Amino acid sequence: MESRVDLNYVRNMFSLANKVAIVTGGAGALGQAIAQGLAVHGADVVVTGRTLKTLEPVVKDIEAAGRKALALSCDVAVEKDVEALMRDTLNAFGTVDILVTVAGIAKRFPAEEFPIDEWQQVMDINVRGTFLCCKHVGKIFKEKKKGKIITISSVRAFAGHPGGYAAYGTSKGAVNLLTKQLATEWAKYSINVNSIAPCIFWTPLTQEVLENEQLYKVFMSRIPMGRAALTQDSIGAAVYLASPASDFVTGQILYVDGGTVAG
Ligand SMILES: NC(=O)c1ccc[n+]([C@@H]2O[C@H](COP(=O)([O-])OP(=O)(O)OC[C@H]3O[C@@H](n4cnc5c(N)ncnc54)[C@H](O)[C@@H]3O)[C@@H](O)[C@H]2O)c1
Repeated sequence: MESRVDLNYVRNMFSLANKVAIVTGGAGALGQAIAQGLAVHGADVVVTGRTLKTLEPVVKDIEAAGRKALALSCDVAVEKDVEALMRDTLNAFGTVDILVTVAGIAKRFPAEEFPIDEWQQVMDINVRGTFLCCKHVGKIFKEKKKGKIITISSVRAFAGHPGGYAAYGTSKGAVNLLTKQLATEWAKYSINVNSIAPCIFWTPLTQEVLENEQLYKVFMSRIPMGRAALTQDSIGAAVYLASPASDFVTGQILYVDGGTVAG
């Protein structure tokens, strides 16, 4: 067996040229960054959200990178929406190669006071929504005998936190195990399933936490690199996990966390 590395492979190992990606939650902070990153590295990108209007800026970013963009409305927790997303993507591009499940929400309450409806909503969007997108793209990838799935987890899946994460942390713990489960189940179809787990980063959602001096100190004390993440910190992980460079990597949770889970 030839053990020398083919230089052509090395040159193209991070290329996403001629690939089609779906990024859910594309209007959000992380979704926008990942969609833009995949486009710059060569992919056409379908971005989804519940409201089409909110996707206009990210569509412009993808097109500015020289790639095709398509905005589709989809509530990830609604199965018929997810089925339509896959159908419309195939109609527009003929195929799909990469799924990144970025759509997610966070709600924080003390566990003993957590309104159960709010708890359930977190589960519905973060767990059920992630599963539905994986389930329906999985059918397509199984036929193709190829595909890359990247779920979005969080450091909150790794360990508990005093900040009221009884729903969010639990949901992301489920995303981690779902990632490993699907990786194991679908390895025979050459489908890679991995997760990116960032630590806290600046978005309108986390502003309340990061602008609270006391909470900010609690969060930073747990990040050895001493700063919150930036959305751009996760782009490299997404490009790697979407590209041929990660073809033998599956079932991994890649923490983009300034060292949080290391210590
Ligand atoms: N912000 C952080 O510090 C942080 C840290 C770790 C992980 N994450 C994860 O990163 C992902 C993106 O978070 P963000 O901070 O960019 O938040 P964001 O609110 O900016 O983006 C989330 C997007 O998901 C969309 N969304 C919510 N519910 C949906 C549904 N039912 N169907 C379709 N879309 C829906 C929202 O409209 C929004 O556009 C989430 O999964 C979040 O849990 C965030």
